[in-house]
Amino acid sequence: MKMIALKPYLRAAPLLLGACLMLAGCNSKEDTHPGQPVTKRRALLQETLRTFEPMGLMVRGKNPYVANDFIARADKLQALSTQPWVYFPPGSTYAPSRAKPAVWEQAAEFKQAQDKYIKAAANLASVAKSGNLDLIRPAYDQVSDSCAACHKVFRGRSVI
Ligand code: HEC
Repeated sequence: MKMIALKPYLRAAPLLLGACLMLAGCNSKEDTHPGQPVTKRRALLQETLRTFEPMGLMVRGKNPYVANDFIARADKLQALSTQPWVYFPPGSTYAPSRAKPAVWEQAAEFKQAQDKYIKAAANLASVAKSGNLDLIRPAYDQVSDSCAACHKVFRGRSVI
């Protein structure tokens, strides 16, 4: 009988874990701000990293290069590349955001950094279809550099 009493809890555990992950960390509070911009942009950027990181492992030869997987990831990255930016409305700097005030103070430069990344991601998606790693590698690096360049100016230290 005891086993049966435990079962609903066991079944709920993965659901609870999923809910925690969606809230960007179990110890962070729920985002009660209208439209939840910080939660939404961080979720999109985390999805971006999850899509992008395995591509780096393939490009650097740490994991086997699988053309179809790489192409699917490059397409997904391109689709994701345009999405986070509407979730940076003025003043949305509440915890756990790492966005620096420069995002809003240097809005034109922030937009330029987005455009550079969006272009690089589109180029990578197109070059990925060649299946030629000699072409893919520099296209991958361009995307990676565009992430890093933006973070350097517009993303601050982790607050978690
Ligand atoms: C145009 C600027 C810009 C570009 C390009 C950009 N990011 Fe970011 N990224 C940010 C900012 C600003 C934040 C902080 C958002 C926040 O916390 O509110 C961020 C946050 C993140 C986060 C959330 C986790 C954390 O602790 O901050 C991840 C993951 C991330 N970026 C990965 C990437 C990857 C991977 C790329 C490229 C494929 C990329 N970003 C491109 C500006 C950018």
